[in-house]
Amino acid sequence: MIDGKKVLFSGMQATGTLTLGNFAGALRNWVALSDEYECFYCVVDLHSITVRQEPAELRKRARNLLMLYIAAGLDPAKNCIYYQSHVSGHAELSWILNCFTYMGELNRMTQFKDKSRKHADNINAGLFTYPVLMASDILLFQSDVVPVGIDQMQHLEITRDIAQRFNAIYGDVFTIPEAYVGKTGAKIMSLQDPEKKMSKSDENPNASVYLMDDADTIIRKFKRAVTDSEARICYSDTQPGIKNLIEIYCTLSGKSPEEAVREFEGRGYGDLKLAVGETVVDALKPVQEEFARLSKDKAYIDGIIRENADKANYYATKTLRRVQKKVGFPERIR
Ligand code: TYM
Repeated sequence: MIDGKKVLFSGMQATGTLTLGNFAGALRNWVALSDEYECFYCVVDLHSITVRQEPAELRKRARNLLMLYIAAGLDPAKNCIYYQSHVSGHAELSWILNCFTYMGELNRMTQFKDKSRKHADNINAGLFTYPVLMASDILLFQSDVVPVGIDQMQHLEITRDIAQRFNAIYGDVFTIPEAYVGKTGAKIMSLQDPEKKMSKSDENPNASVYLMDDADTIIRKFKRAVTDSEARICYSDTQPGIKNLIEIYCTLSGKSPEEAVREFEGRGYGDLKLAVGETVVDALKPVQEEFARLSKDKAYIDGIIRENADKANYYATKTLRRVQKKVGFPERIR
């Protein structure tokens, strides 16, 4: 609790360009929840270097991501928006929690298995202990709730396991966090292969809609979206392409899948694709405009970066000192 409010923490990697999946599964919910909680929204640049990065490019992407958080509607005066690398407590807690996490647990992580396959020439220890750093992010702020897409659920579960294990030894040190997964949009699929998650790292640019895509590109990508030959609009697992389009439509319009199916009853796939494309264009337009405006205001963004890093450091240090004392590190003498 901070000032009587429960704490919310979430973050995104500054790798690749954000997709509609990141927006629908996470960012959109962050904005919706931000009044109710004391919020920390982190640009997780420490996580990014588990895969090789070009330094100048990473720096640029991290700043763009931070601006996107604000452009999407998070007020930086109320929400703590900051870079993970500016708060050393993330890495320090991560070391401690590494010593309370088992190799067997980490071996079971599906994201580790996927990424090891994709980056077979660089299966580094950071990639393996990635979930411990994520647990540290969350536990450092005594977070109650963590809004994420479905793909992060396994990481949330290991976070809870680590926290419970630590608490069982040392008493009630960490708040046990809950995941928050939206009713719709928690797993947006690729437009080219609806059995696969829409991902920043997909090599096929038509598979993902990027938050900065212009209107024509977005409409074109939806027109090319892979569907099926059943020629009926249902919200069913047997029609994953159509289901994904309805899911996107509902997430952004607030309609239920039943309402959407009724609306498109008897109409062709072309109509559905166009309607979904237009809904996405309308949802992203204000974010893109605000992003363009913020990009020109260097001093304003620099101020946010400075102030929010101080705030995040303050709360992070509080937890860290407590943990350090519990495990038996000597007290600091002033
Ligand atoms: P990342 O950067 O891969 O994704 C950011 C958020 O977007 C969600 N997401 C999706 N949701 C729906 N459909 C999709 N196709 C889709 N793709 C991505 C993700 O679930 C996530 O919520 N490890 C995390 C970042 C992280 C973090 C944290 C998150 C580090 N520390 C602490 C929460 C709390 C990641 O790589 O997310």
